Amino acid sequence: MSAQQESENSQREQWVHLNGRLTPKAESHVSIYDHGFLYGDGAFEGIRVYSRNIFRLDDHLTRLFRSARSLAIDLCIDKATLQGYVLELVRANGVESGYIRLSVSRGVGLGLDPKHLNSPPTIVISTEQLRLYPQELYDRGLDVITASTRVPPAVCMDPQVKSLGKYINSIAAKMEANRVGAGEALMLNMLGNVAEASGDNIFLVSGGKLTTPPTSEGALPGITRAVVMQLATEMGLTCSESVTTLYDVYNCDEAFLTGTAAEVIPMVSCDGRQLGEGKPGPLTNRIIAAFRERTSHDGVPA
Ligand SMILES: Cc1ncc(COP(=O)(O)O)c(C=O)c1O
Repeated sequence: MSAQQESENSQREQWVHLNGRLTPKAESHVSIYDHGFLYGDGAFEGIRVYSRNIFRLDDHLTRLFRSARSLAIDLCIDKATLQGYVLELVRANGVESGYIRLSVSRGVGLGLDPKHLNSPPTIVISTEQLRLYPQELYDRGLDVITASTRVPPAVCMDPQVKSLGKYINSIAAKMEANRVGAGEALMLNMLGNVAEASGDNIFLVSGGKLTTPPTSEGALPGITRAVVMQLATEMGLTCSESVTTLYDVYNCDEAFLTGTAAEVIPMVSCDGRQLGEGKPGPLTNRIIAAFRERTSHDGVPA
């Protein structure tokens, strides 16, 4: 964003889309009895805008509706209307590039029994400026650790559901990383296989081939992950889902993380072991360049 656009935007009134209405950000509140707040009873999406194009908007909305259906939350709205709200907000806030947070909850009511809800579902859309890591870490790569906090087993919570409640484990894992000054935490499943990072998917490069853990191992079906798999295939690289152990991580040639917030970021050490050459590898750099190129023009125009 140019300095002029940044200063124009900092003066522009900021809005939130709250339950179907544009409301000034400073006056946007949800109830103290909201089930999202009381019980983590809801779902969310983080979406990026690049050059006024909303990247993979339909994929994010589809995942949100699937999460809601899995949680038996009827959003009482169709996808086209929700897409319209997102576009309306991005235009109202003059977002050139930024991050959209779309959160839903089951609604408002004290007591966990949904019979006591006295409102339709809560739907909140906001836009933010978000840069997860400083540029230096994209250039140099992240040091990560393995967290002792596991991803919830699928019998308790399906990893494909991007629910609010599941993030307490991710937050605990991230705090473990923070305690030792690491950039991210890998999370294992109950079998000890690598599932993903606290807020990102993981890819390894070994012998010129890319692998990423399958969602059945506890990974969120990341939208950035899907884009990277598609880009790798377009680049003629072999990319497959593969059960991944820490041994595989420690012995890979290159590794990187993917997520809407973090985008694509190299990983250069794990649990004190240098990965590959200890710097962002050549295939990682090619994937990053291809991802930047794709996001520079792809998406739904706002
Ligand atoms: C636990 C977890 N895994 C993976 C991802 C990456 O998903 P996406 O690329 O759709 O943002 C996220 C993103 O929020 C996440 O929270």
